[in-house]
Amino acid sequence: MALRFLTADEAARLVKNGYNVGCSGFTHAGCPKVVPGEIAKIAEEEHAKGNPFKINVFTGASTGDKLDGVLSRAQAINFRTPYQTNKSMRDAINEGEIKFCDLHLSTLAQDLRYGYYGPIDVAIIEACDVTEDGEIVPTCGVGISPTIANMAEVVIVELNRWNPKEMRGMHDIAEPVDPPHRHDLHIFGVRDRVGKEYIKVDPAKIIVVETNEENEGGPFAPVDDVTAKIGENVANFFVNEMKEGRMPESFLPVQSGVGNIANAVLEAMGNNKDIPDFEVYTEVIQDAVIKLMESGRVKFASGCSLTVSNPCIENIYKNLDFFKEKLLLRPSEFSNNPEMIRRLGIIAINTAIEADIFGNINSTHVMGTKMMNGIGGSGDFTRGAYVSIFVTPSTAKGGKISAIVPAVSHEDHSEHSVKIIISEYGVADLRGKCPRDRALEIINKCAHPDYRPLLLEYLENGPQGQTPMDVYNCFAFHKAFLETGDMHNVKWENR
Ligand code: COA
Repeated sequence: MALRFLTADEAARLVKNGYNVGCSGFTHAGCPKVVPGEIAKIAEEEHAKGNPFKINVFTGASTGDKLDGVLSRAQAINFRTPYQTNKSMRDAINEGEIKFCDLHLSTLAQDLRYGYYGPIDVAIIEACDVTEDGEIVPTCGVGISPTIANMAEVVIVELNRWNPKEMRGMHDIAEPVDPPHRHDLHIFGVRDRVGKEYIKVDPAKIIVVETNEENEGGPFAPVDDVTAKIGENVANFFVNEMKEGRMPESFLPVQSGVGNIANAVLEAMGNNKDIPDFEVYTEVIQDAVIKLMESGRVKFASGCSLTVSNPCIENIYKNLDFFKEKLLLRPSEFSNNPEMIRRLGIIAINTAIEADIFGNINSTHVMGTKMMNGIGGSGDFTRGAYVSIFVTPSTAKGGKISAIVPAVSHEDHSEHSVKIIISEYGVADLRGKCPRDRALEIINKCAHPDYRPLLLEYLENGPQGQTPMDVYNCFAFHKAFLETGDMHNVKWENR
């Protein structure tokens, strides 16, 4: 049957106040870029007339400014899940204007199918191709697209001609059957496929909006001395693990988190010739993976999105024949599936905002209250990994904040899941250690030397026990920062 074509404004008018709207993409990659802007305009028109207009937005992960940014600035969002990285949205969340549910990314698609959030009224999906029999080929990110496309009454396809339709074949699209009948996660190697090259829906519910919008992929920060040293420490740790026989010499698939530090770590691993060529099984494939693929160091990468800078994606599109056989994009419930992560023996490397001396990790909240981005996939990978590593610079904000603290101000990953912490100063190996030994290891190997005496003082002078946690003083570092702007100015209580 012939597909229905509408303008972006006409399509946006299908979205009503209070709707649950599911959007494609994962990070800025693969997100709709035009219809959300038109929804924002409608929201502003309605607000000017004194009418309410807010929607609930469900995506694979964070999105670009043309989605989260414009809708937040138009005060058009009531509820948002599972992850975000946009400044306008972050501000609105921290002001209490947007209700944000911070969620493990692997779980959202199934939680939607289980009915935890109600129906999906409209899905908006960026595609590089759509056919008259209802085959939708995503662009650079998959996320929860198969699920929202299947659940929605109306599927608005942003057919974005900026992306070549020859991408078809790069995706592996499937939805697992829900419990108690799940038996179909047949991925036993990074390259295994279980699905189709496209999302298939009833063509009668498809509305096509044609666009030609470039990606929103900004550049990564250049590697500096601190991130370079962290990367070097990670690479040396792996070399030692292989030497000690704790890691196979053929190596294991690597997951690497989001952001500048993660990108720098991968670069360092690629430069260390004692690490064999390796495969990547991750959620976001960043620039460093693509560079290492070109140099032959990364043999294959399975992920949920190509979260790369624009020059990098243009290079991939120009050389699709080379990259298509080395890249595979999956829905987040496959890329981040804890069952597969444990099965494949993934090496998980994620970035912490802060770590405490016992090995608990805060990935999400600054000073315990302000949301930064969200837990993302870090929990999906950390809990099931062969070895779970957290990296962090030893300090933030010009040294006024220690990333190693007596107690994390918010806990995302517990001491039971975290095996290794790495800063620019060294590697803390927490495996097989009791809390007190873990504390000494983290303080002496990872903390900035300026903060080590204060951390040791905390450890030695508090009440002892299995975990020497001093409830009067565990937040003394955070209190010092909030009161004086510098964690060095610690004042102990009841001592
Ligand atoms: N206290 C206060 N602020 C801190 C901080 C701390 N202990 N540690 C870092 N920050 C701030 C930095 O100063 C920086 O702020 P700025 O943007 O104002 O300069 C910001 O956090 C980002 O830190 P940066 O050092 O640039 O690291 P990054 O880009 O690698 O991001 C995380 C680090 C933790 C925010 C990011 O990795 C994240 O959101 N992780 C959670 C999700 C995740 O792990 N996903 C991966 C799963 S596959």
